[in-house]
Amino acid sequence: MVEIFGELDPPPRLLMGPGPVGVDPRVLRAMSMPMLGQFDPAFTAYMNETMALLRQIFRTQNKWALLVDGTARAGIEALLVSLIAPGDKVLVPVFGRFGHLLAEIASRCGGEVVTIERDWGSVFTAEEIERAIKTHKPRVLALVHGDTSTTMAQPLDHIGDVCRAHDVIFYSDATATLGGMPVDVDRWKVDAVSAGLQKCLSGPPGSAPITFNERVVEIAKHRKHVEAGIRAPGAVEGNGPRIQSNYFDIAMLMDYWGESRLNHHTEATSMLYAAREAVRIALAEGLEERFARHRLASRALTAGLLGMELQLFGDQMHKMPNVTGVVIPQGVDGDGVRRMMLDDFGIEIGTSFGPMHGKIWRIGTMGYVCRKESVLVCLGALEACLRRFGYKRAAGAGVDAALAIYNEKKA
Ligand SMILES: Cc1ncc(COP(=O)(O)O)c(C=O)c1O
Repeated sequence: MVEIFGELDPPPRLLMGPGPVGVDPRVLRAMSMPMLGQFDPAFTAYMNETMALLRQIFRTQNKWALLVDGTARAGIEALLVSLIAPGDKVLVPVFGRFGHLLAEIASRCGGEVVTIERDWGSVFTAEEIERAIKTHKPRVLALVHGDTSTTMAQPLDHIGDVCRAHDVIFYSDATATLGGMPVDVDRWKVDAVSAGLQKCLSGPPGSAPITFNERVVEIAKHRKHVEAGIRAPGAVEGNGPRIQSNYFDIAMLMDYWGESRLNHHTEATSMLYAAREAVRIALAEGLEERFARHRLASRALTAGLLGMELQLFGDQMHKMPNVTGVVIPQGVDGDGVRRMMLDDFGIEIGTSFGPMHGKIWRIGTMGYVCRKESVLVCLGALEACLRRFGYKRAAGAGVDAALAIYNEKKA
């Protein structure tokens, strides 16, 4: 029997979780542009433009800034599988769920993984990381920049120097931070960085911007093996251990995105359009202006939550500006509140994982959603839902406190 469903008609939602968030309509429009062949000069020009835009958002002079087709973890896997040869020692400082993910991916790459851990809600000092590097002498340090599971941002500014001093390759996951707060790849001396589109860049999930420098290129070249069916006669192969994934092999990705345009996968045309537009919009706004917009929303949202006598989660000195953890008040059904927010107000806020499950909500103010209207509507709705679930405080206090922050700016 043929089963035919109705036309897609998703309910309108205000996505205020830790991502994905509402996609900028200009990005959706870019995605509806016609297909081009992958070697059409018009399309390869878009690939080159995308690389130029990515270099600017990553604040890098690296030659290599490109897209991996897949969600943010595709970018993580591409860099880690290309960097880590079986037996390489990898140090992963874990301060939330995504540190565990890096450790898991590094170990699937055959890395000999060592972790150090911090309580969720805190971050490491540069000294703690340096001490662990001296003790464990890793080949690679894999460190999350902003961990959405805890809302914390790990400062990276001194870590690159420590890594260079000990000849360690430094990889960081900037999925949650790129486009919402500074990711200073060159100044911080991060050798390889990956991200995603669906958070502060307000694109759909499915494309992972990455960048890497010449230290990483050297490693990849040493491990380079091109598929037999496309290998040019006389091509130079590396003599190191072959990169264990074909799809995520950055040596082959360099041949595809670089001057030789050697065929690899079929670039995801509509996702490239989306990434190009999302990054173009972010740069056109101005990165400093964009970061300031995220900081302001964070101040207004946190003032509103405190105005409602709610408790914020984690070390507030290191909280990301684009996502805020809120402690679920004693006796309140956290999932019930989230369900009511969605069903009655069309607003999605985030639950949490692992040790935080049932303890905090996570409210995102990222990219296109990072606006005064979203903050105010979310606070008003949250207050109404909380009242239904027995948590009653001064009516309107949350919205008033947030408005005061926005009005302060005007004064
Ligand atoms: C810090 C961080 N890294 C990696 C990921 C994984 O991203 P994806 O689900 O796009 O693969 C996420 C997603 O929330 C994230 O927040």
